[in-house]
Amino acid sequence: MKNPVQPLSQRLFDTTHTQVGNRIKVLGFAGSLRKNSYNKLLLRAASRLLPESAQLELFDIRGIPLYDQDVQEHGIPEIVQRFKEKIESADAILITTPEYNHSYSGVLKNAIDWASRPYGHNSFNGKPVAVMSAAPGIFGGVAAQDQLKQVLLALNMHIVAQPAVIVASADRKFDVNGELTDVDAKQFMRRLLANLVDFTIRLTRLDEPLRVFPIST
Ligand SMILES: Cc1cc2nc3c(=O)[nH]c(=O)nc-3n(C[C@H](O)[C@H](O)[C@H](O)COP(=O)(O)O)c2cc1C
Repeated sequence: MKNPVQPLSQRLFDTTHTQVGNRIKVLGFAGSLRKNSYNKLLLRAASRLLPESAQLELFDIRGIPLYDQDVQEHGIPEIVQRFKEKIESADAILITTPEYNHSYSGVLKNAIDWASRPYGHNSFNGKPVAVMSAAPGIFGGVAAQDQLKQVLLALNMHIVAQPAVIVASADRKFDVNGELTDVDAKQFMRRLLANLVDFTIRLTRLDEPLRVFPIST
């Protein structure tokens, strides 16, 4: 039987991406402030399941103030400036989201709104992104993901959507140390992360960088 084709992320790691400095930089943030958040634990699991050709840096959105255009016009808060710089210097973005009332969390929307402003300085513009969710319910945050993805499209992000990572019954999927124990969830995460990194490598290796026009929102 023919050997299966190696994913691009692995092939490039074997050849050109052998230095740590050349790794694809993924910035991850969770849409929950909770200390023992399942979605923060998902990010932790993701850092172990990412292809070797990539590295994950985490950003904690705790402390981002409520969006207020008056505040913005007097100067962007320091934590927001740091968030925007982290997004802009990343090659790709990974967001884990809880589900609140069949949508994603208000703190996540607030953080995204800040990073999309001021007008014409949307830090997410043109970035590849993947979304995952975890919730104790049987639907695992699928409604939250759908709504979040609509917003990410409006921000002109490139969503890598398959396979969907929806960790339902999350209260039974992590051990006492917060390690993700569910074999299927880990397998889906590994594939989605590999797809995100492969797509990002394709984008960043284009001879002609993609034109990223300012957007209207
Ligand atoms: C205001 C609120 C609304 C919620 N609505 C939903 C919901 O619609 N669907 C769901 O599966 N879980 C819902 N939950 C439960 C969350 O999924 C659960 O608290 C989860 O642990 C939050 O994610 P985290 O662990 O990352 O903080 C809700 C929780 C809160 C606080």
